[in-house]
Amino acid sequence: MGSILHLRSIQNVLGLLLGASLWTAVAAQTASLVVHADKGQHQISRHIYGHFAEHLGRCIYEGIWVGEDSPIPNVRGIRTDVVEALKRMKIPVLRWPGGCFADEYHWKDGIGPREQRPAMINTHWGGVVENNHFGTHEFLDLCEQLGTEPYICGNVGSGSVQEMMEWVEYMTSDADSPMANLRRRNGREQPWKVRYFGVGNESWGCGGNMTPEYYADQYRRYNTFVKDYSGNRIYRIACGPNGGDYRWTEVLMDKVGHRMNGLSLHHYTIPTGDWGRKGSATEFGEDQYHGALRRALQMDELIRRHGEIMDRRDPQKRIGLIVDEWGIWTDVEPGTNPGFLYQQNSLRDALIAALTLNIFNQHCDRVKMANIAQTINVLQAVILTDRERMILTPTYHVFEMYAVHQDATMLPVEVQGEDYVFGQQRLPRLHASASRDAAGVIHVSLCNLHPSEAVDLDLSLPGASVKSAVPRVLTADTIQSHNTFDQPDVVRPRTLATINVNAGKCRVTLPAKSVTVLALQ
Ligand code: AHR
Repeated sequence: MGSILHLRSIQNVLGLLLGASLWTAVAAQTASLVVHADKGQHQISRHIYGHFAEHLGRCIYEGIWVGEDSPIPNVRGIRTDVVEALKRMKIPVLRWPGGCFADEYHWKDGIGPREQRPAMINTHWGGVVENNHFGTHEFLDLCEQLGTEPYICGNVGSGSVQEMMEWVEYMTSDADSPMANLRRRNGREQPWKVRYFGVGNESWGCGGNMTPEYYADQYRRYNTFVKDYSGNRIYRIACGPNGGDYRWTEVLMDKVGHRMNGLSLHHYTIPTGDWGRKGSATEFGEDQYHGALRRALQMDELIRRHGEIMDRRDPQKRIGLIVDEWGIWTDVEPGTNPGFLYQQNSLRDALIAALTLNIFNQHCDRVKMANIAQTINVLQAVILTDRERMILTPTYHVFEMYAVHQDATMLPVEVQGEDYVFGQQRLPRLHASASRDAAGVIHVSLCNLHPSEAVDLDLSLPGASVKSAVPRVLTADTIQSHNTFDQPDVVRPRTLATINVNAGKCRVTLPAKSVTVLALQ
């Protein structure tokens, strides 16, 4: 084994020196994958492919909101290029206004004539002036333009029960009531449908530094006044744990499990594992590549262990695990405001997105929604803007490729192959998930995490009568490859030649450091 590993390291070095080509790396490993096409049971909620947009840096202002008088093409102040790109990606749900910002946001400051709205200081994110020009009407207009469902996070940390109660009434009631009439005076006759509502964000941290017992009591109180008006039924999401804080989940499930529909979970991937020096988004070596993948893979353990706690109290899986913040968090781009969390997005991030979405697909019986942080210009963004210019990141392409899994039936998979070893650390080199859509098409999404070795994969699909597989592949020259405003298409998917499937079997070559989605029919 030792000598095989040694030989591989030499091959890796040679591969890097010689610049292994995109589609054929130095050495192809073999692996096998069984897709149990006859064992589908659970639906993959399309909301697993959700997003999160906070009043942070250039996410809302510039990324989404440019104002009606902007030379950047817009519809009622919301930029058109971004809306079109998000629609192409089939964005199913959008969380807003935070994040930490949610617990200092007072919604009444964000309604009415814009020039009369009071300004505030965004104390969490750069101490900049927030002019409240993007508020409830603008956010819900954005959701309507996108055809996406809103997920609103209410203020428990610094807001009152009355404030939360009135916000829900303002948005969703069609009665002749004070808040519904205020909405009408502000130009919106019909109430909106708002299904997803979060009662606080990170209440264990920036949302109030509460203990789970204290938060559970606060949740009981606030949630009592979050009402269902005019046929709108709220899906109530309680603040869940910080990563591996299993006690938080136990307390919340015991004290308020019967009063919630969903419990949130946050997990960020820090490449170095050190919040003080997280590592660069584009200048990293294989150590940080391997480290980031390992830390992203922890999502599986978090879901399993929180899921076990939930299973003991909720064996019917009525309560959804809502992973409403996840993604890679690196150092900011040099020269940018550290409070704006602006980072580039590389092929490494695409692999992290793909393996995380595979994990969510596999756990779709418990995970009912997930929201990558954050949509534009912040953390693991799918879109970056530079004033009027806009580019799609490698992570965007993964979401667009994986949209085929939305609302499809998850098919269990079994992977066999070698690990990807770096130093003393190892992780599976292949990662997969599969589903069957309403039209009967089977989609298999595959990550080859190895940076320099391709994999020849023997795929078999017992129970399926498919004849061909069409592969779409996302890869690039290096794990650091990324799109820039001058070179926006360095990392983009390509459709490869159709592969014949005989007696439910075929062989597919997965390039090194790639994401592949196969459409089989
Ligand atoms: O996404 C950035 C921040 O990360 C959010 O505001 C907060 O909820 C989390 O700590």
